[in-house]
Amino acid sequence: ALRAMSTSAIQQKEIKNVTVIGAGLMGAGIAQVAAQAQLKVTLVDTTDKALENGRTIITNSIKRVAKKMHPEDQAKQQEYIDAAFQNISTTTDSKQAAKDADLIVEAIVENIKVKQQLFKDLDNAAPEHTIFCSNTSSLSVTEIAKATSDKRRQQFAGLHFFNPVPAMKLVEIVRTEELQDAVFDQLSQVTKKIGKTPVSCKDTPGFIVNRLLVPYMLEAFRILDRGEASPQDVDTAMKLGAGMPMGPIELADFVGLDTMKFIADGWRETGGIEPSLVTPVKVLDELVAEGRLGRKSGKGFYDYS
Ligand code: CAA
Ligand code: NAD
Repeated sequence: ALRAMSTSAIQQKEIKNVTVIGAGLMGAGIAQVAAQAQLKVTLVDTTDKALENGRTIITNSIKRVAKKMHPEDQAKQQEYIDAAFQNISTTTDSKQAAKDADLIVEAIVENIKVKQQLFKDLDNAAPEHTIFCSNTSSLSVTEIAKATSDKRRQQFAGLHFFNPVPAMKLVEIVRTEELQDAVFDQLSQVTKKIGKTPVSCKDTPGFIVNRLLVPYMLEAFRILDRGEASPQDVDTAMKLGAGMPMGPIELADFVGLDTMKFIADGWRETGGIEPSLVTPVKVLDELVAEGRLGRKSGKGFYDYS
């Protein structure tokens, strides 16, 4: 009887259906790795055009993955791609997509009001057991979760992936005060199932990675502001002198300069981090004001056109 009980408890907990909200850079990547791990994925965005963009991101990336798995065999590559896509459906109806979800991962715009409104709607639409997660880079998960019921907040965590999702092996699981241990364990399991390594962290500005990475990148921009070295030399220095895969300036272009500015400005406002780490940086403010947002806009610190 004990055995039957524990089996039924495990079955109840198993995450099979994942709804990913936001089909941008991060949401598409999360949908892809979940589908590759045989989870059933529903990918949601506000327009068909955005969903199409998500599909394109997935197609480009999964081709690389398939080629690496079956270097000599084009038929097997196609089989792998088709099998993953069979696990992905898309819709613009987030409430409908919440109805069958065991887990919802939100990866929409980094704006607390918009995220709270979405989660409020989803809380009413989703079944009781559904776990809610945000992929936020810089906002407080506890604050976002305040839009949901007492019960849901015990099943609400940060599930923070890294860009590019298919290549980066880490997921930070952000533990709020209210998160239940059993839910944390389920998130840990599903993270491993999709081939990533989880780490646990508290709900503080930037969690672990961004708490270290963002001040480092801002200081690299200040080196430019002070005229101490060129962007190329800063990047070369950190790649060859500190073993970084990308230098801080090219990484900022990769992440998005608007995102970098949003994070620094947000932390300056909300506090919880040493103020001198997030003082404004002239070159960043100027580039963003000019619409030079990094790779995604064709120009940032560097020119990609
Ligand atoms: N899809 C699928 N696979 C990809 C991929 C993609 N979009 N991009 C890279 N890969 C895979 C490649 O297939 C390759 O796999 P193998 O090693 O198994 O062959 C591997 O990743 C390395 O790729 P490449 O050889 O093509 O290129 P690279 O060695 O220059 O690595 C990189 C590319 C992985 C992006 C590397 O430059 C890197 O790690 N850069 C730093 C990225 C980083 O710091 N990301 C975090 C940003 S901060 C963040 O995300 C948090 C936030 O909240 C803002
Ligand atoms: P993105 O702009 O590429 O994609 C966001 C997508 O969300 C867009 O397709 C947009 O149409 C959609 N969207 C906006 N509001 C929506 C709503 N109410 N309902 C459904 N869809 C909506 O952004 P991104 O870079 O993928 O970032 C998404 C989240 O992930 C943000 O919270 C960001 O901070 C976080 N993040 C970003 C990175 C990064 O390096 N870019 C890394 C880790 C985490």
